[in-house]
Parts: sequence; structure tokens; C-alpha cells
Amino acid sequence: MGRAAGCPVSHNKNSLTAGPHGPTLLQDVALIEKLQHFDRETTPPRNVHPLGSGAYGTFTCTNPDMAKYCRADLFSKAGLKTDLVARLSGTFTKQGEAETIRDVRGFALKFYTSQGNWDLMCINMPVFNCRDAKIGPEAIHNFKRDPRTDEWNPETTWKFVLQHREALHQALMLYSDREGTPLSYRMMHAYACNTYSFYNEAGKRVWIKFHLRSEQGAAGFNAQEAKLIAGIDPDWLKRDLRQAIESKKFPRWTLCFQVMEEAQGFQRAEAFDCTKVWKHSEFPLIEAGVIELNRLPIDYFAEVEQVAFSPSNVVPGIGFSPDKLLQGRLFIYPDTQFHRLGPNYFLIPVNRPRNQLPTQYLAGQHQSTIRDPVLVNALVDTPSLLEPNFPTDGPAYVYDIPNEGSDEDYYGQARECYGILSDKDKQALAINIAQSLCKISEETKFQVCEMLANVNQGLADTVVLNSTQNKSKLVTPNEKLWFQLHSKLHPDVTSA
Ligand code: HEM
Repeated sequence: MGRAAGCPVSHNKNSLTAGPHGPTLLQDVALIEKLQHFDRETTPPRNVHPLGSGAYGTFTCTNPDMAKYCRADLFSKAGLKTDLVARLSGTFTKQGEAETIRDVRGFALKFYTSQGNWDLMCINMPVFNCRDAKIGPEAIHNFKRDPRTDEWNPETTWKFVLQHREALHQALMLYSDREGTPLSYRMMHAYACNTYSFYNEAGKRVWIKFHLRSEQGAAGFNAQEAKLIAGIDPDWLKRDLRQAIESKKFPRWTLCFQVMEEAQGFQRAEAFDCTKVWKHSEFPLIEAGVIELNRLPIDYFAEVEQVAFSPSNVVPGIGFSPDKLLQGRLFIYPDTQFHRLGPNYFLIPVNRPRNQLPTQYLAGQHQSTIRDPVLVNALVDTPSLLEPNFPTDGPAYVYDIPNEGSDEDYYGQARECYGILSDKDKQALAINIAQSLCKISEETKFQVCEMLANVNQGLADTVVLNSTQNKSKLVTPNEKLWFQLHSKLHPDVTSA
């Protein structure tokens, strides 16, 4: 073992002291260097999605007709394989927390294509809780731990949904068993939520929604199981992924997309609104290829903690859309990575493009690659790769979504989402919501139940019945134990 400069270390156990009991000497440089490095072992965690696992794998294009939509090299030929790295994560849970806590799960992919890195960022629900980046930080803050107490606080979460009812659609998914507490990272479908675009060689652009369909199927814990496993094995999800890959049960997903014609995008309210889905009956899924995760990282910090994804990393053939949340996210990610990993984060091995390194960015903290600076002045354009012009439709203004605030906007797709659940899943959803309402004020609970009645009266009734903590017959043994212990310690406090 050596020091950072490569000099050997002769003693690793005992510090250099003046006499057997004397003070430690500053000239034990191996000790000082070891402690100083230890003090700097962590970087700031991700502000969102800090808890996660990673794996490497491949994408195999399976659709011979992709060129019709997209000119990107990775889709140019059926059978073509592209290496990738994936990170699967919680969203609001912090590092060290139990992985089976109710949360939105992330599924980020970095495809190392021959034209540079394409990052595809998904969550395990097809919709998000806000649709404009201007409201993004509040949307995140109200689902995270309460900044006043650092406790989970369903009161602030539900208050956000009450004030921003377009968030209700995602809230229903968050409180379902399948999406809110997935059994395994392998057993979840994932969705890019935001609208992107594809353009082909001829410059024709279409709007796109990406989907990842799990070949393992999708399944969730019920609330009772998720809470038990949280106590017994807080690392459940990462252990499951590692063990599956180690035993060569490589998880696979089909990468699919929906297509909307360019002109249609400006006529349809849901086109660029990521709180809404595009109906499969009208916009069927088209298969692009298959993703397989088949290799584990060996250094968690270097390969998983430092991996940096951004929806702004696109290759020719893939573009953006007027989706206002996506537009903000194009800025958010590289900016937070400058802060989290420094200005040269793209030089960290897991983030490096495999084709060529950018040469125009000089120096800066952690710039460690020796490159010929003359190249800096030799940037060449590639006009053949120019993106087709990007359509816009009016003067600059702070516009609402076309049908913003209507019954259809707030509840239409939420009703359909509830309507397709089985009776068992409807019951589980109501009970999961009720359990979160048990711990909030009567006033907010009442408002939430009124809001739920707009989705379905039966849902609202079951929630009311089960959120009345003392009368409840359906509260699980976990909750009963919680209430017993809590009222022993705090007999005078009625809610948490
Ligand atoms: C209000 C909107 C949003 C904000 C403010 C936001 C912000 C962030 C931030 C700051 C990070 C940490 C990035 C890093 O440190 O490297 C992150 C990670 C992530 N975001 Fe978002 N995000 C938003 C919406 C979305 C949406 C709509 C999706 C996808 C559908 C998404 C998917 C992800 C994923 C998968 C990660 C984890 C990336 C990783 O594993 O490193 N986010 N987000």
C-alpha cells in the first residue's frame, strides 16, 4: 500500500508518537494524508434521487424501420448493440433510508453511442406531479421531508396536491401498491414522462413519449409487506438487483415509443403536458429495441455515485419539445452536476463519451486529461447534422396549459387511471391514502376526501372510513402498533 504520491507506507496500524504514550507527531505524513483524504470522501449527494444502484448493460436495436423516425446511429440497424449504464433510484428517500418506503422510482440510462452519449431519464410512473419547471422546486420540496423538522409530512404533500390538482394523477399512482412500493427494480415499467422529438434524415420531426416495458412484469409490495421489509432489509432493492445479475438472471426491458405528428402537438392539450398520458389506443407503442442489464459496477462511488445524467444529452436524431418541464430540466441537470461534481464531471470515466472528448472546455477543477490545446481552435461544424427548425406558435407570454384548471384537466385522466384498477388494487389504493391521512389535520383530510370524490365517490368513501384512526377496522397491524406506542408516549397529542 502506498501514499497518494506512490511512496510506500511502512506502518499502517500505529501512529507515530513521541514515546509509547506520547502525543502523535505531525510528521506522520501517512496518517495526516489518510485522515485528510477521509474527510473529503463524499461529494454533495444528489438533491433528488440520492438513494440508488447502478448496473451496466446493452441496448440492442430490434426495429429495422427506425430510420423512418430517427436518424440516430444507435437505431440505424436491427441487431446493432450499444453499451449503456443505468442507475435505478428512489426520488425523495435519502441515502441510508429503507428502499421500500413509498416513493417514485427513477430509471436513468446513459447510452454510449458512436455519436456521443444519449441519456434517457425515466420514472416508474407515466406522469409527473407538475408540468412547468417554474413550479419544479416547490413540487419537489413538498414531497421531500419537511424542511422545518426533517420528518416525512403527508400534510405538506397533500396540501401541494390540493393546490395543484394536476398532481392528483401522479398521487394516485404513488399511493398504489404497484408503482408506490415496487417489489423489485426489475419489476417496474418506466416512462420518460416528458415529450421529446425524433427527426429523420429528411428533417421530418415527430413528438415522442418513451416507455420501458419490463420483461419481468410489474409488481409491488402491499403496504404491510413494504413496511416490514423496510425494517428487516433496508437495502432490499439494490440487493435484489445485484443478486439477479450475479446469478445471470439479467433483467430486460423493451424500449418503446409513442408518436404524435408535429402539427397535432399544437392542437392536443396533452401533447406537452407531463401530468397526462397519451392514450395507447390512439398513439400505440412502437418497439425500438431491448435493454439488458448484465454487469455490476465494482466501485460504487466512482461508477454509481458519480454518474451524471441529463435530458440535455441527446444525439443527432433526438430532440426536445415545447414541454415546459423538459425545457427547465435541460438546464437543471448540468447545473446541479457542476455543483455536485465540478465543471469537468463529463471527464469522470463513467460519464466520458466513448467516441471523442470535448476539446473546447479548458482547465477547471479536476481537469485531468492531457489534450492538445491547439485543437481548441480547430472546432469544425457538421452542417449535415443540423437539427430541422423547431416550430413555435406565438408571441412570448406566460401561458397556461390550453385547458388548465378544467374538470377534464384535473380529474379526467385520474378517473380513467382509477377506473382500470382491479377491485383489489382500488381497495389497496384507498387504504394506502387513508393511512397517510391518519396523520394529518382534520381540515386537510376533509379537503383531500372532497377532492378524491371528483375522481370516484367510492374511493372517497373508503378513504374517509379508513382514515378515522380509532374507528378503523382496516388499519394494518403496523399502524395499530404505531398508534398504541405513540399514544403511550404522547397521550395528549391526537395527530402526528
Ligand atoms: C420539477 C421537476 C424536476 C426537478 C426540479 C428535478 C431535479 C432533479 C435533480 C436536481 C436531480 C439530481 C441530478 C444529479 O445530481 O445528478 C434529479 C435526478 C433525477 N431526475 Fe429529476 N427533476 C425533475 C423532474 C424529473 C422528471 C420529469 C423525470 C423523469 C421522468 C426525472 C428523472 C430523474 C431521474 C431518473 C434522476 C436520477 C438520475 C440519477 O440516477 O443520477 N426528474 N432530478
